[in-house]
Amino acid sequence: MFARCQNSLLSQARSAALLSTTRNMSSKSYVLPYDHQTSSSVVEGADPASLWSLTPRGDKPPKAGTTRVFYNTPKDATTVVTSLGGDFAKKPANTKRELVRKAVASAVKDLKSHEGVKVVKVDASVDPHAAAVAAHLAQYKFTLKTSPISAFDPRLKEPIPEKLSFAPLEESKDWDRGVIYGQSQNLARTLMELPANMMTPTAFCERVKQEFEGIPNVEIIVRDEVWAAEKGMNVFLSVTHGTSEPAKFLEIHYKGAANKDERPLAFVGKGITFDSGGISLKPGAGMKLMRGDMGGAATVVASALAIAKLQLPINLVVSTPLTENMPGPSATKPGDIIYAMNGKSVEVDNTDAEGRLVLSDAIYYTATEYKPHTLIDVATLTGAVVIALGEVYSGVYSTSDELWDQIHQAGEIEHDRFWRMPLDEEYGPQIYSSNADLQNTGGRPAGSATAALFLKAFAEGIEPKDGESEPNMKWAHVDIAGSMEATRASPYQAIGMTGRPVRALVEYVRRLSNAA
Ligand code: BES
Ligand code: MN
Ligand code: ZN
Repeated sequence: MFARCQNSLLSQARSAALLSTTRNMSSKSYVLPYDHQTSSSVVEGADPASLWSLTPRGDKPPKAGTTRVFYNTPKDATTVVTSLGGDFAKKPANTKRELVRKAVASAVKDLKSHEGVKVVKVDASVDPHAAAVAAHLAQYKFTLKTSPISAFDPRLKEPIPEKLSFAPLEESKDWDRGVIYGQSQNLARTLMELPANMMTPTAFCERVKQEFEGIPNVEIIVRDEVWAAEKGMNVFLSVTHGTSEPAKFLEIHYKGAANKDERPLAFVGKGITFDSGGISLKPGAGMKLMRGDMGGAATVVASALAIAKLQLPINLVVSTPLTENMPGPSATKPGDIIYAMNGKSVEVDNTDAEGRLVLSDAIYYTATEYKPHTLIDVATLTGAVVIALGEVYSGVYSTSDELWDQIHQAGEIEHDRFWRMPLDEEYGPQIYSSNADLQNTGGRPAGSATAALFLKAFAEGIEPKDGESEPNMKWAHVDIAGSMEATRASPYQAIGMTGRPVRALVEYVRRLSNAA
């Protein structure tokens, strides 16, 4: 009863603002975040407080992201007033950012369903960066339906413009930066969403080259299996044996620091373009999710794209081992023992624990070849981290409290959050007790912690050398198996691949490079 009464009041308010034009005729629109305590009017003819007062009020302040749509207000425009919730000004900074994201995204979602709306002007004054991020994430929708033709259709030669284009009411560098954060995360979502027949290792590399075209200080190198064999990356190559799809090892070198010889930061991303499990075949139900098993590669590449577009003053190396994990006739078999690039012997107990296999050689190669001061690997590594943390947090294992603090802080700022997990040698016996130096499984207990320990054996430089107090390299491993996919929608994250932790990584680098 109450709800019906509210609806009829709402429609009265709407018709009051509707006047003569129909809702379909206004191509221009406004998004006005509304702080119920301190709002002021920024668009003539659309004062949020007086518009809001036309609509029914409950006893409590509305939740952030509650929206009211007004047609022909101001003339020929559609305006969405979107609540920042009660007591906005009193909230902590990170909470406010998230409220802005929710408010702007809810308004954009409303506008998406309005035929004819094209240009959206956003009052981004409260937080231009968060507003830009939210608008671009909320607008994203992956589809390969052919009518109307999808912008994601891989056959397209020319890009199709997005349905809505956003602009802040006032120009702002923070807004522009937010656009790059949001668009880069969307790129990672697309790379992960695209099915494995379209996003092969080769296609991945081609797409990356295309995305980086024209950006200064970037070099892209695509290596093949022959190169990997010369390097002795036998553990990486062991995963490629079950597929006829050529594997690749992609490197991106960005030199943004004033000193081009300055030690770089390194990102390594797991790039399994499809994970069937190999001979240790996965069950069929839900297996298509494993098209996104290159989420580590997608997110580090997309982060690098944002970093390069922003020309952040830092040197960065990105490595991604890319292959399918398939059960073809030459596939690696459970029990096979392989010598890794660093000389260690690895028993493949389960071919479905392939992520740590491709990463082991990639981490060792990147650490020894480019001597980064910090190496962060990102991987959709374990089902165990899905059980531990669900979709809310990405799991982080790190040898450095300082690095953990920096990653954690960046995650809180972008609300792309991390939880620290134990990197502890007491789990070691679970993976050190087979015929080989290492075994690629450690049983069900602490499955994501044993995967992290496996990788640690290849992170050269994390132990201080004799006589030195500091290790040569800081290392963090980010397990994103849980955060890769959203199974519940939120205002700026539709159900589907998330592209996390792109924003957190870019923010981490931005803060790191500003501090330098
Ligand atoms: N790609 C999977 C992990 C995964 C699971 C990612 C769910 C996203 C969602 C990984 O390669 C895998 O299969 N891991 C196994 C390891 C096990 C065999 C030791 C797992 O976690 O079950
Ligand atoms: Mn697997
Ligand atoms: Zn996998």
